Amino acid sequence: MSEKAIIGIINVSDRASRGEYEDTPGKAIVSTLNDYLTSEWDSVYAIIPDEQDQIEAKMKEMADEKGCCLIITSGGTGPAKRDVTPEATEAVCDKMMPGFGERMRQESLKFVPTAILSRQTAGIRNQTLIVNLPGKPKAIRECLDAVFPAIPYCIDLLEGPFLKCDEKIIKAFRPKNK
Ligand code: MTE
Repeated sequence: MSEKAIIGIINVSDRASRGEYEDTPGKAIVSTLNDYLTSEWDSVYAIIPDEQDQIEAKMKEMADEKGCCLIITSGGTGPAKRDVTPEATEAVCDKMMPGFGERMRQESLKFVPTAILSRQTAGIRNQTLIVNLPGKPKAIRECLDAVFPAIPYCIDLLEGPFLKCDEKIIKAFRPKNK
């Protein structure tokens, strides 16, 4: 498939959704993807509060109606009462992809011991890969650098668009004989 990729970005944050806090994580996701990707892509974007039903509804809309091959969320992965992004992810996905969370925590532990407080995960809804990131702006690049090399091939396996990366920035791994 060579059509343009549509990537959903959801900043899950009570304060950002009320306009009390700048959407730095969402902007960091967009600028990281602009650095990585040389193939054309469009974003669909949302800032929503830490409400599980709203997070699920936004994920479903982006996957089922907007045709996103990838949805990246930021925030709501911690232990606090209102942190429910992983629960929403699990609720809308048919398959969980626990390796993403494992790899991101492994990498994040090099930077902060509190990396283990993130329950960030990933999963597949039909042909859409959904990946959670923590809400700290600095965490966005740290986590995406760790897992993005596997994302284009995952999207190939889901029969989505062919993502091309700038190899000087990030190298997508695609097994050669596939
Ligand atoms: N991962 C990275 N790479 N950098 C960070 O600063 N912060 C941690 C963790 N993971 C952090 C990180 C902290 S302090 C928390 S509470 C959890 O992510 C959950 O963050 P969230 O609730 O904003 O998703």
